[in-house]
Amino acid sequence: MMDIKALAYGEKEYITALRRHFHAHPELGRHEVETTKRITEELEKMGIEAMTFSDITGCIGVIRGGHDGGTVALRADIDALPIQEADLTKEYASQNAGVMHACGHDCHTAMLLGAAKILSAHREEIHGTVKLLFQMAEEIGTESRHYVENGSLSDVDAIFGMHIWATLDAGKVNFEDGERMACSDRFTVKIKGKAAHGSEPDKGADAVVAAAAVVMGLQTLVSRRTDPQNTFVLTVGMMNGGTQSNIIAEEVELVGTTRTFNKKFRKGLPDMIKAAAEGIAEGYGCEAESTYFFGPAPLVNEHISLNRIARRAAAAVMGEKALVPMEKEMGAEDFAVYMETIPGVFGFLGGRNMEKGICCVHHHPAFDVDEDVFPDGAAIYAKFAIDCLKEMEKQKIL
Ligand code: NI
Repeated sequence: MMDIKALAYGEKEYITALRRHFHAHPELGRHEVETTKRITEELEKMGIEAMTFSDITGCIGVIRGGHDGGTVALRADIDALPIQEADLTKEYASQNAGVMHACGHDCHTAMLLGAAKILSAHREEIHGTVKLLFQMAEEIGTESRHYVENGSLSDVDAIFGMHIWATLDAGKVNFEDGERMACSDRFTVKIKGKAAHGSEPDKGADAVVAAAAVVMGLQTLVSRRTDPQNTFVLTVGMMNGGTQSNIIAEEVELVGTTRTFNKKFRKGLPDMIKAAAEGIAEGYGCEAESTYFFGPAPLVNEHISLNRIARRAAAAVMGEKALVPMEKEMGAEDFAVYMETIPGVFGFLGGRNMEKGICCVHHHPAFDVDEDVFPDGAAIYAKFAIDCLKEMEKQKIL
């Protein structure tokens, strides 16, 4: 039987070089043309067939094992962010002005290619099929849905994802059951009043005053409408309206986001926001019109058996003590879209190293990752796939 950890450490240079290449050449979501090209070239060099798509970027490598069996997908996201990298003296600094891999997706891509190398070289030992999903545009919202909608994952029995994590030390890893990341939805409220001279407010209906009341009123959804045990955030991040100091504003637009882990409560949010906005606006003689956009759903590790396989894989590679608990995150992850239809598991791989001065949070212009963790990450990807397929063969685990 292959020693996956040793094989992964043998690929450390390969993985690190690729990560530095992707870091130096970041591309924004939906525009990862060169990134996709490089990934498919690497896959083809390994003898892995790569599926590409005419309408979207990203690709899927398919490794057919020497034995029949189920299908496991391993996912890495490949997109960068519209951020100017702070330190351009770094040898692998971004060469694309204003674009940067500030979330570690370059690491995910490189580590999954490292896993691909190990798996493809030992395909005879694989009981089933491994799909290597290099997904575009994670930062945009729910672009992962395209790979579900175009049917390229329809044969997948289980899907695995992992994020490099900036608040977790290198050498630590987290695969925890239950709620892990929140949803990220967006809403707008348009408030319509009636214009008048600023000196005669009684002749109009002030959309600014109504909007201010709506902003405050919406906060009571957090304090009065959700179970106190449920974590819920509602933020109005934009408020646009009015034209001049002495004109009663006719229209104001509010744009906000909601975050929660409770799927049922989340479904009721569009109606709650609509009712609150309309009712409050009416009290000020105005009208409100609200729209709600569902983003990525809450990410909940509810497939306990899959998470157990992931934890065992992580412990085998990094040691039992490396597995640590971690608070759930209010940020979102479009991996949740896959988990709505495919049993899946999602974890976090520590990338922080204070001693090396690597301590910036995700999306920070000085974000970086301790590259020494890459072999462990690649090994966990590969080991999860192999172990999960074996479990599937032994028993129906899903
Ligand atoms: Ni990310």
